[in-house]
Amino acid sequence: MKLGIPKETLAGETRVATTPEVAQKLIKQGFEVLLESGAGAAAHYPDRAYVDAGVTVTDRAACFDADIVLKVRRPTDDEAAAVRSGALYISLLESCGEDALVGRMIENGVRVLGMERMPRISRAQSMDALSSQSNIAGYRAVLEAAAHYGRFLPMMMTSAGSAKPARLVVLGAGVAGLQAIATARRLGADVYAYDVRPETKEQIESLGAKAIELDLGESGAGEGGYAKELSDEAKAKQQQLLADELAKAHVIITTALIPCRPAPELVTAEVVQRMREGSIIIDLAAANGGNCKLTQPDQVVVEHGVTIVGQTNYPAMVPSDASAFYARNLANLLEIMVDKSDTGPVLKDLTEDEITKAMLVAG
Ligand SMILES: NC(=O)c1ccc[n+]([C@@H]2O[C@H](COP(=O)([O-])OP(=O)(O)OC[C@H]3O[C@@H](n4cnc5c(N)ncnc54)[C@H](O)[C@@H]3O)[C@@H](O)[C@H]2O)c1
Repeated sequence: MKLGIPKETLAGETRVATTPEVAQKLIKQGFEVLLESGAGAAAHYPDRAYVDAGVTVTDRAACFDADIVLKVRRPTDDEAAAVRSGALYISLLESCGEDALVGRMIENGVRVLGMERMPRISRAQSMDALSSQSNIAGYRAVLEAAAHYGRFLPMMMTSAGSAKPARLVVLGAGVAGLQAIATARRLGADVYAYDVRPETKEQIESLGAKAIELDLGESGAGEGGYAKELSDEAKAKQQQLLADELAKAHVIITTALIPCRPAPELVTAEVVQRMREGSIIIDLAAANGGNCKLTQPDQVVVEHGVTIVGQTNYPAMVPSDASAFYARNLANLLEIMVDKSDTGPVLKDLTEDEITKAMLVAG
């Protein structure tokens, strides 16, 4: 069975869907791995390393002609049209609900699995690309904050005087948020965190941060470890109760998400205005409307002296490890999708396993 790994073409994308190490394991399992020449270059995996691992380095057309096409990002129109009928296509689809492009692929006889549709169950953890990439984003977001901030994150005591630690607030304590808390603590910031799901309090405190607790009069806990959308009344109350905490912050990292909903607005324009000159907001939800009212996707803007960073692809800024994690997620998924046979791996019925069933986009 041939796996095709084309080079990613979206602007700024540096990741690749497999690494030489993971490809070698797939080849041992009986897959034939085809890689577009140069596909790993931006993630510092040269063609030579793939060849040494047993990969066939070839052209783009051959990769799209494979039995299974593996990519990181959503396909472009051309890529979607290049996958042949009868093949399987797997990547992040970056869409919710109706998706005309994926609909056309399915009409063309392609079966499509969306990596973000992976159910959040224990058995699927090692295949969960949203989590592996969010973890990286949470880490990288703190480094971004530190680089923009004109002061220290940790307390500093030097012969030239001392500096207080930065007061850093993380909003949303899911995968990205918890990693941001851990990274900011390692850098010595004074960390506070807030999440609408009460069960996060213990996780926040176990990382050495202080939990901000608000009485909204309703619970934000939804199903499957996700939050649910609050009523309009509770949203207004949340903004109002958070305002004083946020206005005191020197760095805010926002990661609040409800799947398939616009990002909740937690940092209002008034809060930004009240923050100290030189403060930083890193908005991880920038691609989804932003948790801060003033965020612009993929831009760094300065409003009222506060720098607001709307970078939408932090994993691409850590491309070697982000690719390695993603590649392992895919390899773990492939393992549950096939049976071994004398002639190599054979694809199972994808509707039989709850994981692949949930990921398969219906026609
Ligand atoms: N910019 C990037 O490069 C990048 C990369 C990866 C992920 N992301 C984004 O980071 C965000 C977090 O991703 P994740 O995987 O950690 O998601 P997650 O579901 O694990 O965590 C999101 C958290 O937000 C909380 N939340 C929801 N509504 C809230 C509210 N009103 N107030 C407070 N908390 C609230 C949830 O309870 C949950 O704990 C998402 O928006 C995701 O798209 C950005």
